[in-house]
Amino acid sequence: MKRDHLRLGVNIDHVATIRNARGIRHPDPVRAAGLAVKAGADGITAHLREDRRHISDEDIATLSDVLTVPLNLEVAATDEMLEIALRHKPHACCLVPEKRQEVTTEGGLDVAGLHDHLAPYVQSLAKAGIRVSLFIDPDEEQLRAAKSLGAPVAELHTGAYCEVSGEAQLHELERIRRAARFGAGLGIEMHAGHGLAYDTVGAVAAIPELKELNIGHFLIGEAIFHGLEVSIAEMRRLMDEARASQPVGRS
Ligand code: PXP
Repeated sequence: MKRDHLRLGVNIDHVATIRNARGIRHPDPVRAAGLAVKAGADGITAHLREDRRHISDEDIATLSDVLTVPLNLEVAATDEMLEIALRHKPHACCLVPEKRQEVTTEGGLDVAGLHDHLAPYVQSLAKAGIRVSLFIDPDEEQLRAAKSLGAPVAELHTGAYCEVSGEAQLHELERIRRAARFGAGLGIEMHAGHGLAYDTVGAVAAIPELKELNIGHFLIGEAIFHGLEVSIAEMRRLMDEARASQPVGRS
């Protein structure tokens, strides 16, 4: 793997969304994970929500048994989810905010405001050898709080950038660029994700401090038209192309 390889974590939640619409076993997100790996995913991401609207406990158990690449388990910071994470010991655990009524994860975790609530979760996961990631908005205060909690990884929420266009999108992109630089300067490994699609991934993938992107909904939607492997391979190509356009010397 090249030194500057930008990892792609494929989020398979929405394969489970379709499965659950019928309450049967098809389509199987674990099968999708296998195809994603074949197509170039460096890791698999799955969000076990408190309401189990897509990924199930059984999915996490099976993924933990069969995956040949790292599993990034996204969970809310609750005792129930901590117990599940400690039982399965995924490679990484990304702590995300969760509201029952939201359609998707609407904003980043308020690490600064929830510092004392989060501290025991971060410590317990780290003690078990699980790499802790905090899903935050691109904001220096949140990154300072992540640093003070000792989180090795922060994932920047790219949803606001993906939802707007024109000047507003450039402004959001600049926030992500600055936060990536600031976080990396603090010694935090920087990731990004949420809402990314073919037309938005390039500018984010070109940010040299980012080490991993987590992408799901768009890929599963594209898979309806072109198949999962083709869709992931195209995302991979766009990421690699954006990385290759970086000036020599930046890493
Ligand atoms: N990263 C995190 C922390 C997320 O919660 C999600 C959505 O579950 C994603 C990345 C992927 O977002 P999307 O499905 O919009 O690509």
